[in-house]
Amino acid sequence: MKTIITAIALTGASALGMTAAVPDYLNDNLPIEQRVEDALSRMTLREKINIIHAQSKFSAPGVPRLGIPEIWCTDGPLGVRPEVLWDEWEQAEWTNDSCTAFPSLTALAATWNTDMAQLYGQSIGEEARFRNKSVLLGPGVNIYRTPLNGRNFEYMGEDPYLASKMVVPYVNGVQSNGVAVCVKHFALNNNEINRHTSNPIVDDRTLYEIYLPAFRAAAQEGNAWTFMGGYNLFRGEHASYNPILMNDILKGEWGWDGAVISDWGAVHDTRTAVSGGLDMEFGSWTNGLTNGTSNAYDNYYLATPYLKGIQDGTYTTTELDDKVRRVLRLTFRTVMDRNRPFGSLNSDEHVAACREIGQEGVVLLQNRNDLLPLQLDKVKKIAVLGENAIKMMTVGGGSSSLKARYEITPLEGLKKRIGDKAEIVYARAYVGDPTGEYNGVITGQDLSDPRSPEELRDEALKVAKDADVVLFFGGLNKSNHQDCEDTDRESLDLPYNQNELIEAIAAVNPNTVVVNISGTGVAMPWANKVSSILQAWYLGNETGNTLASILTGDVNPSGKLPYTYYATLDQCGAHKLGEYPGHPSIDKLGNEVMDMPYNEGIYVGYRFIDKNKLKPTFPFGHGLSYTKFEYGKATIDKKEGSADDTFTVTVPVTNIGQRQGKEIVQLYISDVKSSIDRPVKELKGFKKIDLQPGQTEEVSFEINKDALSYFDADKHAWVYEPGDFQALIGASSGDIRTKIPFKITK
Ligand code: GLC
Repeated sequence: MKTIITAIALTGASALGMTAAVPDYLNDNLPIEQRVEDALSRMTLREKINIIHAQSKFSAPGVPRLGIPEIWCTDGPLGVRPEVLWDEWEQAEWTNDSCTAFPSLTALAATWNTDMAQLYGQSIGEEARFRNKSVLLGPGVNIYRTPLNGRNFEYMGEDPYLASKMVVPYVNGVQSNGVAVCVKHFALNNNEINRHTSNPIVDDRTLYEIYLPAFRAAAQEGNAWTFMGGYNLFRGEHASYNPILMNDILKGEWGWDGAVISDWGAVHDTRTAVSGGLDMEFGSWTNGLTNGTSNAYDNYYLATPYLKGIQDGTYTTTELDDKVRRVLRLTFRTVMDRNRPFGSLNSDEHVAACREIGQEGVVLLQNRNDLLPLQLDKVKKIAVLGENAIKMMTVGGGSSSLKARYEITPLEGLKKRIGDKAEIVYARAYVGDPTGEYNGVITGQDLSDPRSPEELRDEALKVAKDADVVLFFGGLNKSNHQDCEDTDRESLDLPYNQNELIEAIAAVNPNTVVVNISGTGVAMPWANKVSSILQAWYLGNETGNTLASILTGDVNPSGKLPYTYYATLDQCGAHKLGEYPGHPSIDKLGNEVMDMPYNEGIYVGYRFIDKNKLKPTFPFGHGLSYTKFEYGKATIDKKEGSADDTFTVTVPVTNIGQRQGKEIVQLYISDVKSSIDRPVKELKGFKKIDLQPGQTEEVSFEINKDALSYFDADKHAWVYEPGDFQALIGASSGDIRTKIPFKITK
């Protein structure tokens, strides 16, 4: 009887429109903050503790009782990492998690094209969404302080303005899929050597002008939903829970409402993790890459020790509730957003994106006698030399390593594109790293070669001698002390005796092209001995097709360098003035650290080159085309009706060559006379234009106070001074085509 009455009652109630109330936190129509507060109010202390630390290598538990889902993270910035075992770094050998491997982020930065950054973010975000991940552990935007940093390939170059402009569309693209980015490694993780103990000693002006801008843009303009703290220290505290970086700057000055995730193994104690602005602890008891203590999760610093601390009154729940709010906010923005799209994996669109970004990012550094593009109606025999013509590069390099669905090597791409139009003869020339495995992912290539370096060299020289053109594919790779996490390079030189090899090859055939595959700068003492040089980056699945399209002229290269090609380390401020990798010291807790004074201050990259009137091998912003561009005279006028100091500078740019091409027009600003030391010039604008032969475009830039300012550490504010300024417009930092003065009167 009772059941019937209950049924009638409910029916009656629903007939009166009184449906069972949906709790606020499950009601998508309510503002996220209201949902956060409701969920928080329903959680037990234990549930609050659980939600702020990992339960497995890459996941946090959510609140099962309330139907609040788990948060799943995945590497990395270049593609979605294969699934790993619950509590291991090893891959789980799933059969459905191969991915699209996109170009390295230095390649993306080298496009100087914000549309490519948007396309990149959108594409990789779709793959992470399809794999049901809530957080993509990327992009990295640490600044290229030294060419030796093992992870430069994962970052966006030496200039804070370029990195700031390129990171925002990437963030927007990823997060449009309901997947959070995790901007890393905040902050000053600018080297891999001693990465857990490095203690950069940086003044505020350098911090704010060079090392923070890209992170600030990601937080304030990109509205990134999570940040990852770095391993290193800063002013005596580890970055992942550094009160200055996380509380004062990120959450304070920048008003950021996202969640801070530790790097894996970056947390070392409870107290500072509680008070230093960390919101989610991952990877404790590991070194971030290999070993780990299995099922250590209850012993995490923000797990049982924190719970006990709250229960015995050591901590209040104030910090805990703030952490939980941020994790809930992340959850509602991602996995609990019922309207987010469904993503896609390995689509033709992603392959096309991989190729388009790569084609826009490859940089033609030198092209004597216009040897490139290859004239296939004349060139009948092509020597393809070097290990990097055949070596797959998507496996290795650390946490950005991938299980790509496929990878076209340069030799394969050339053979496919050239077919029988010319004879291609391959010779290894050197054996560098014949391995191809990372965390259980293998390339399947057998690159073993028993021959001696002499035999390899002799064969290469013979092949080169008989050819019309030589394409030497060299550079670095993803093995230790190359472009690889957790190690830095030990020299600016190419490894495996490539310098000598290249000189020998150029001596037997002047028509030598060097295709340098790397994610960072290398010394090129042979630059004047070869005809052409291509900076080819790591280009992912479509490597061979991308390079073949550039080398044969199907595509006109349009990338420009996001960093300086130093001739020697002495041309780099970090090595000439700064300390690298630093000297042993003891921190306030008595731990051994490596103090690393950034004595070079703001003089990083071209800023140091300009100040010291140096001549690098190739300057920041340099890149050639198969056509030529002419810059007219710049004009400037005050923006109509603008109260403050806003100007518009315009320059006509013409394609004076015979074929379509894209040009990256760069604006630098110089404060001619200032009360403090300032760089000769600083990048404050860029535009990538696409011109048909004979076409002219009037390129305009707005100059506002941001372009004029420096960071005054005493006032802790951005300021600019009245007086004379100059707008310098050019094709690179070393190739200024036109300048125009203007005056700030106030
Ligand atoms: C690594 C890296 C970080 C990566 C994380 C998870 O040590 O420093 O970039 O996302 O751990 O693999």
